[in-house]
Amino acid sequence: MDLSHRTVLVVGGTSGIGREMARRFAAAGSTVAVGGRNPEALARLAEDGFGTFRVDVTDAASVASCRDAVISRYPELDTVVTMSGVMLLEDVRDPAHFETARTTIDTNLYGTIRVVDAFTPHLLERGAGTFITVSSGIGFLPFPPMPSYGASKAAVHAYSEALRAQLDGTGVEVVELVPPAVAVPGRQNANPHALPLEDFATEVMDLLAADPTPREILVEGVLMHRWAERDGTYDELVAQRSKALSLLPGRRV
Ligand SMILES: NC(=O)c1ccc[n+]([C@@H]2O[C@H](COP(=O)([O-])OP(=O)(O)OC[C@H]3O[C@@H](n4cnc5c(N)ncnc54)[C@H](OP(=O)(O)O)[C@@H]3O)[C@@H](O)[C@H]2O)c1
Repeated sequence: MDLSHRTVLVVGGTSGIGREMARRFAAAGSTVAVGGRNPEALARLAEDGFGTFRVDVTDAASVASCRDAVISRYPELDTVVTMSGVMLLEDVRDPAHFETARTTIDTNLYGTIRVVDAFTPHLLERGAGTFITVSSGIGFLPFPPMPSYGASKAAVHAYSEALRAQLDGTGVEVVELVPPAVAVPGRQNANPHALPLEDFATEVMDLLAADPTPREILVEGVLMHRWAERDGTYDELVAQRSKALSLLPGRRV
């Protein structure tokens, strides 16, 4: 994929991986807009020259009005990144976890579907374009303190596969970004094994620049998650990762 002449919208670009990818696309020469809910973050990005759009992906009307505003300002929009996501801990022994599950699925899965649905007619009409969906290594190898998160990301993977097949032949590509743990500013309970954001973003942009663009963007650090089942390391890794259940407040001793 050429990274230098695109018109990109990063939904969920107000912080973390999304903001860094927005910066990288802009640095490569593309025109970049970002969406999100946080007004202060959007204002800072506007000062840096990004187009900014308020959007809540859990609200279909908000996604539709964001879509209308983006396409009106950027009729040449050709790339939509569905980055919005929440990563929430859940103790399944606490019945209150269901609300966390609902928020997680509504944001990570339905949010992805709402954004893809909103922009599909535009990209189909252009006859060329790219959706970059965002799953996670945790969609392939569970991280037990985040059951609904893993389910939402496994679902984004499955959805991306079928979406790609449905759009085949239209000129609209579907690329799935599969991040491993990445250290983003401000994250609590930081994982000491998380990749530095800058290194991750450099690897991602190099992989995206390949022609043809790979269906999945797999940095070196996510290969052990992505292929654990195939490689026979799955059970051992799940047992190792279950030690992180001590992160749950109710399980601390
Ligand atoms: N960092 C990691 O270790 C890691 C690993 C694997 C996958 N991922 C995935 O990568 C993506 C980015 O994560 P991150 O680590 O960069 O986290 P982050 O810094 O918390 O970024 C999350 C982004 O999602 C947006 N968002 C959340 N809820 C939203 C909503 N209802 N409507 C619109 N936007 C919403 C946030 O914007 P507002 O708050 O402004 O709405 C923010 O821009 C997520 O999908 C995450 O699951 C991250």
